[in-house]
Amino acid sequence: MERTLILLKPDAVQRRLAGSLIQRFEQKGLKIAGLKLVQASRALAEKHYEVHRARPFFESLIQFLTGGPTIAIALEGPSAVAVARNLMGPTDGTKAPPGTIRGDHAISIQNNLVHGSDSVENANIELAIWFQPSELASYQSVDHSWVIG
Ligand code: RTP
Ligand code: MG
Repeated sequence: MERTLILLKPDAVQRRLAGSLIQRFEQKGLKIAGLKLVQASRALAEKHYEVHRARPFFESLIQFLTGGPTIAIALEGPSAVAVARNLMGPTDGTKAPPGTIRGDHAISIQNNLVHGSDSVENANIELAIWFQPSELASYQSVDHSWVIG
C-alpha cells in the first residue's frame, strides 16, 4: 500500500469541482486516508513548491495556491502515487488527453486543478507538510477484498 498527497487547488474549489474530482479518485479504488480544507499561507505554499523556487513561474504559482482555499487529500492504495498521476494527466491542460482530470477540465498550465505527489519519497514529505500524523486514518475498506483482490 502506498499513500500520496493530492491537492484540489484553489481553481478546483472555486469552480465547485471538488466533489466530482474526489469521486474520480474514489471510483478508481483509492481510499481517503485524510482530507481537509486549508487556506494555504505563503509559507505553506512555498514549502510545498520549494523545488520550483528558481523557476520563472514561482511567484505566480504561489499567488495562485494562496489565492483561495485548497482541499488537501491523502489517498491510499496500490501504487497510489502513479495511479493518481495517471488520473490527473500531464501538467499542461491544453495537452492533457481527454479522460484525464486535466484533459477534461483544464486549459491552462498553471490553473490545472490538481496536484499529485510525483514519487513515494516526495509523497511522504508532502503528506507531512499538509497533515499531522493524527489527521491520517488507517482502516480497511469493507470492499477491500473485492477492489484490491
Ligand atoms: P503538480 O506538482 O502541481 O502536481 O504539477 P506537475 O507535477 O504536473 O507539474 P510541476 O512541473 O511540478 O509544476 C507545478 C505546478 O506549477 C504550475 N506550473 N506553471 N507557467 C508555467 O510554465 C508552469 N509550469 C508549471 C502548475 O500549476 C503545475 O502543476
Ligand atoms: Mg509536480
